[in-house]
Amino acid sequence: MIIIGLSHGLHVAKKIAKLLKRPYSKLEASRFPDSETYMRFHCDVRGQQVVLVQSFYGDVNNCLMEVFFAAWTAKDLGARKVILAAPFFPYFRQDARFNPGECVSLQVIAKFVDDCVDAFFVIDPHLHREKNLGHIFKVKAHKITANPLMMEYIKKHVKNPLIVGPDWESYKWAQATAKMIGCESVILEKTRYNSRDVRVKLSKNIDISKNNLVLVDDMISTGHTLLETIKLLKGMGAKKFTCVTVHGIFAEGALEKLEKTGAKVAACNTIPGRCAKIDVSGLLADALRHTS
Ligand code: R5P
Repeated sequence: MIIIGLSHGLHVAKKIAKLLKRPYSKLEASRFPDSETYMRFHCDVRGQQVVLVQSFYGDVNNCLMEVFFAAWTAKDLGARKVILAAPFFPYFRQDARFNPGECVSLQVIAKFVDDCVDAFFVIDPHLHREKNLGHIFKVKAHKITANPLMMEYIKKHVKNPLIVGPDWESYKWAQATAKMIGCESVILEKTRYNSRDVRVKLSKNIDISKNNLVLVDDMISTGHTLLETIKLLKGMGAKKFTCVTVHGIFAEGALEKLEKTGAKVAACNTIPGRCAKIDVSGLLADALRHTS
């Protein structure tokens, strides 16, 4: 097995290779002046299982193009099997046609993955209407969860926590995490009007004044979900907040906006950044160790 770091997966690829005691190679990828992609392998992949490590943030579509070129080139060079290991994978939220004529992006992306690689590993994909990766991808797709790592982080860094899930999707996780930590949890009701307009409300009265509130979500994108949550809870007298997420996308200055409220923010390093304090490379290494 050879571990290959693509441009947005380098930060975890080297660690994965080290943990697995497998060779690591960086893929040379650049853009021609006309913006076309240039790519070159610097290792012999013949007969090998090749693990392409790529995360998807920033120019997400270019990240996909890199995988496309790398996977086909690896096969063309004689790789036995090509595996995509994705700390963060995009487009899971576009899993339905919400308005007539829209592209169901997840379907297109799933076809792309099926055509490019033989197996797929992903950390906490945003599964909404469809919970089973086997119904989305034809290739073997493995879902890995960072929940135990996040729970450890909360246990270590927050005294007397109360876990807050901003919507019903976070219900199971928030409740399970609270149980493991031995604290209470509360779930809000969220209504999303568009990608930047969300409202949250709490349907029962609870005393939150004595706890340090830990807001958990699988991803922070524009941050509006958690900003609205903080606004609501501040109105109820809450003072201290920690936001913990798997995927810190932090689009449109979301991190700065959250920090401005006084909240502390921690994310997994599925996407690198100054808040990426929880390392997921061990999770990917463990999952890959058992693949043949
Ligand atoms: C939605 O269902 C997700 O779990 C997150 O709550 C959402 O994607 C966060 O997005 P934003 O930060 O833009 O509100």
